[in-house]
Amino acid sequence: MKAVAYSIRPFEKEFLAKANQKKHDITLISNPLNFDTAAYAAGKDAVIVFTNDDLPATVIDQLAALGIKYIVTRSVGIGHIDKETATKHGIRLSNVPSYSPKAIAEHAIALAFALNRKLVKADHNAHHFNFRNDDLIGFNFAGKTVGILGLGHTGIEAARLFSGMGCKVIGYDEKVIEDLTFVSQVSLDNLFTTSDVISIHLPLTDATRYLIRTDTINKMKKGVMLINTSRGALINTADVLKALATGAIGYLGLDVYEFEKGLFFEDHENDSVKDHLLADLLRQDNVIITPHQAYLTREALQEIADQTIKKLDMWQQNQCVGDACACADKQNSTIL
Ligand code: COI
Repeated sequence: MKAVAYSIRPFEKEFLAKANQKKHDITLISNPLNFDTAAYAAGKDAVIVFTNDDLPATVIDQLAALGIKYIVTRSVGIGHIDKETATKHGIRLSNVPSYSPKAIAEHAIALAFALNRKLVKADHNAHHFNFRNDDLIGFNFAGKTVGILGLGHTGIEAARLFSGMGCKVIGYDEKVIEDLTFVSQVSLDNLFTTSDVISIHLPLTDATRYLIRTDTINKMKKGVMLINTSRGALINTADVLKALATGAIGYLGLDVYEFEKGLFFEDHENDSVKDHLLADLLRQDNVIITPHQAYLTREALQEIADQTIKKLDMWQQNQCVGDACACADKQNSTIL
């Protein structure tokens, strides 16, 4: 199959090459997909995209006109793709539904540790030969209550890790999850009111958008630690900033940011600051922001590449195997 892969970063190439084994003829380009770059898909069967590519109706119309039959995104999230328009054109759409829950969960823990033990400040001071430790007091995670929002693969993995640290782990999910071992399932209110640390592992949907906002923050313990490695818009960032100012939120660890599109994954060091909300957040000592890197482990990158190529293999063989090939043209199918 002929494909073009957009938004390819240099580090992805070795993983894709290993996964592809020269089976498919894939053109790798660093440009993001948008209205101006869609023309690179001419003569291809498939496009391979990433979360910072833009696939609204206008771009999908263009891809369809160029004869594109398949779109696969190298991510779990498909919020950047207009699924209805793809379906309308009979374009098959796929994602990488689960590549490494451990990678994401471990990054959530890394953010929690770094915030608690003030590692960024400690390291900054040490690099300036300041070895005082007066302002570096943290707390033991052991014995604290950790609330996991979302008990999918990643949430469960985060629960396992926090539980291994001696935390009491509680979790919320809209579905009843059977056979939970590291975590007790509780109501959302119970989680909000009793957690010392809240880690978010939910997809972004109409129901979860702004789940963290002033009225839900008001239910939380004063000084709660909030970690988000899922999607930025699960949090109303302006509300969270206010809560940081009053001390209602004591620590904030973000790997995703509500307005990250067009900002994350690129170096803006020399640009003038346009996002004042982000600038305000970054001024706080008790905030850590990482650039959507939770998935960045060698294992996760290989899995993303393997699953991406597998989708091309299956489409080429006209296969819909198990749940690994749910197609956008099947009504109500989950994108997998
Ligand atoms: C996703 O998989 O949806 C992510 O957010 C990580 C990604 C940018 C590969």
